[in-house]
Amino acid sequence: MRLIDLRSDTVTKPSPTMRRAIADAEVGDDVFGDDPTVIKLEGKVAALFGKEASLYVPSGTMGNQAALKTISEPGWEILCERDCHIVNYESAGPAIHSSLLVNMITTERGVFTAEQVGELVRPVNIHNPLTKIVAIENTHNRHGGTIFPLEEMLRIRKVADKYGLIMHLDGARIWNAHVATGIPLKDWAVPFDSMSVCLSKGLGAPVGSMILGSKAFIEKARRTRKLFGGGMRQVGILAAAGLYAIENNIARLAEDHLNARLLAEGLSRLSGFTVDLSRVVTNIVIADVAGSGHSPAEILDQMKTVGVLAVPFGRTRIRMVTHLDVNRDDCLDALERLKKIFS
Ligand SMILES: Cc1ncc(COP(=O)(O)O)c(C=O)c1O
Repeated sequence: MRLIDLRSDTVTKPSPTMRRAIADAEVGDDVFGDDPTVIKLEGKVAALFGKEASLYVPSGTMGNQAALKTISEPGWEILCERDCHIVNYESAGPAIHSSLLVNMITTERGVFTAEQVGELVRPVNIHNPLTKIVAIENTHNRHGGTIFPLEEMLRIRKVADKYGLIMHLDGARIWNAHVATGIPLKDWAVPFDSMSVCLSKGLGAPVGSMILGSKAFIEKARRTRKLFGGGMRQVGILAAAGLYAIENNIARLAEDHLNARLLAEGLSRLSGFTVDLSRVVTNIVIADVAGSGHSPAEILDQMKTVGVLAVPFGRTRIRMVTHLDVNRDDCLDALERLKKIFS
């Protein structure tokens, strides 16, 4: 039986044409700054987002953590959403790498407001931590691929300007927000001093993320990347996959969003599954399985018997993500298989 792998949009395998781009890539030593394919990718991604410069890094985690290390000083306070990736899935990186104090904002859908940020900024005196960074995740993974509205980010930018805060975007899936809303990538980048975006999620590259910002910031981040062991040599072979991904795989994310919707609607009709359809706006589907009387691990084991893979996502929830390597027919097939065991 063929597996239908909906665990994440990171499970995609390079297509034959992407592999050809990899094979044909011109390379050099990127630590010396002379890999032409990396230089091309960095220029192209910076231009896409209207930023001065960008830097190729091995992963989204390194993108976030190297960016935070570069913009911060030990003891600074960072404001972020309680369920964000930076806090929940990066091995305590802000504390370990950058000695940051994390202040988490609880939200309904991953979206906090300018007023909340304003209220959390502490007065400057010798007792208080210095509130200096606001991080936003868009789209928001743990909230089910929800989109942080651009207008609210621009309002937060005004508060940031008032108090001298630096704004960082975890834009691992900013491409999905762009495709779902039609808002240009450049507009999504406007509020941010520092950004990370992933090539290896919805865009289907095997490896790689980019840090973006001003030239001065990226020059400093290059040093942080070296410190983290992320300076790579003839890495143009991987950057070529990234270039291929941004040239070919952005617009098609719309298909993933339609497939996620299809999947979500089908799941919501299964016995014991509850899906908040209003949250399914990009490529992530979260189902609460509490009503089944089984734990997520038990449900996932049953799903595996019919060849459908998902991941546990908290005490009562499971997550499925649509991507380049599953099409509409695969999603219909997955639903048919699940119907046999959960109806
Ligand atoms: C929102 C978000 N940010 C960052 C990352 C980290 O990416 P990586 O797995 O490449 O380190 C992920 C990974 O899933 C993510 O979902």
